[in-house]
Amino acid sequence: MKRIAATFLVLIVSALVAAQDYPVFEPDKLRPDEFRERRERVKRELGAGTVAVVLTNPIRNRNNDVDFFFRGDSNFLYLTGFEEDSAALVLIPDGFELDGKRVTEILFCNVPTQQSITWLGYRMGPENAIKLLGFESALPNREFEATLSKIPAQKVSLSIPPNPEPGLIGRMNSHIQAYREGKDAGPNLRQMIQRHRQVKSPWEIELLKKAAEISALAHVEAMRAVRPGMYEYEIDALYRFVFRREGCADIGYEPIVGSGPNATILHYNTNRRKMEEGDLLLVDAAGEYMGYSADVTRTFPVNGKFSPEQRAVYEIVLRAADEGIAMCRAGVTTAQIGNRISQILADGLIELGIIQSRNQIGRYYMHGFGHGIGLDVHDPMPGTLVPGVVLTVEPGIYIKEGSPCDPKWWNIGIRIEDDILVTDGEPVNLSADAPRTVADIEKLMQETGIGNQPFRPWR
Ligand code: GLY
Ligand code: MN
Ligand code: MN
Repeated sequence: MKRIAATFLVLIVSALVAAQDYPVFEPDKLRPDEFRERRERVKRELGAGTVAVVLTNPIRNRNNDVDFFFRGDSNFLYLTGFEEDSAALVLIPDGFELDGKRVTEILFCNVPTQQSITWLGYRMGPENAIKLLGFESALPNREFEATLSKIPAQKVSLSIPPNPEPGLIGRMNSHIQAYREGKDAGPNLRQMIQRHRQVKSPWEIELLKKAAEISALAHVEAMRAVRPGMYEYEIDALYRFVFRREGCADIGYEPIVGSGPNATILHYNTNRRKMEEGDLLLVDAAGEYMGYSADVTRTFPVNGKFSPEQRAVYEIVLRAADEGIAMCRAGVTTAQIGNRISQILADGLIELGIIQSRNQIGRYYMHGFGHGIGLDVHDPMPGTLVPGVVLTVEPGIYIKEGSPCDPKWWNIGIRIEDDILVTDGEPVNLSADAPRTVADIEKLMQETGIGNQPFRPWR
């Protein structure tokens, strides 16, 4: 009897907690119509007889009882706008009778409890997810297995993140695998959503513009701050400070802050070296704003003045970047842009005597010219550009010590990377606020900034 009373009390408390108001700190993020329209597009394309399941990422352990900061799977975020862990979306184009109502979509998510509010913070919960994000229906994630197993389907389509094993998401994935047994495979859902993500909506473009502007501002502050004798991590810290101060929830990717020889290492990110007189500093760093990441690189001399050799190579990379950006127009293929950029870089290095023929350019330029940006820093992009595509243009030259050229070129590593919006007309450089020309960089570097001010003791 006592047990029944206690259970009853728990149920009442849980119901009260679930019905609580959910504090919305960033109302701009709530675009129920936009997310609903994305789900409707996918449902139409899935067609009759297919049920689709979209899982978000698992929580991943970092060490002992510390987890990595949670970030949802981008396909899941694209369709839901729901940022919490332990969630799944089921799409049922044919409809399914749930509590007397025909629904074509169900979000499964955590339910807030007194315990979770005390220890973990706010949880939106099913009711608020319906109210704020516009889902037709939402249920506690503990009901996932029982509900899914009742939904009839001939075909199943899945968007499961890579390595979904840990925790609740891993268990949900096992239920999904059991559910799909004996059913046919529906359309490839991950590919379908990736295709939908290639062209950005006006709102997504606004978010990418903001991410790029914040990132450009951080590059400006870095140019003002850097001096010989500083450590790479001091500049790394400055970027992170600017991103967070301007409202980014996170970095889009680990900042690459490579000076001297480190500027020639494509994915260097330990950022521990002391910078010296005469070094170039290559920084590839950008913030993620409301889920959308920019991707911006600038290269500048630590002492504020390019050497003649640094400048000669820089001008070639800048020419390639400028021509590449000018080509970012509807109807142009990415192959055309990539080929033209390689040619310009090769011809420039031939002129300087660093290589002897165009086919040697791979020695010093070993990556693609660019990629889409969006919810992922490497986001999908179509092979032929159309208005609404946002992509990077990022030529670079990396000459390691010991390369087969005059040693005066060694340890020059340069990349210039901007984020470009394709429109009906001219391309728009979203990251143009960070100086790109030698003259503009050297002028800005005469200023001091927030990043090299000494700390002041308070006593
Ligand atoms: N920051 C990674 C890239 O430029 O692709
Ligand atoms: Mn990039
Ligand atoms: Mn980059």
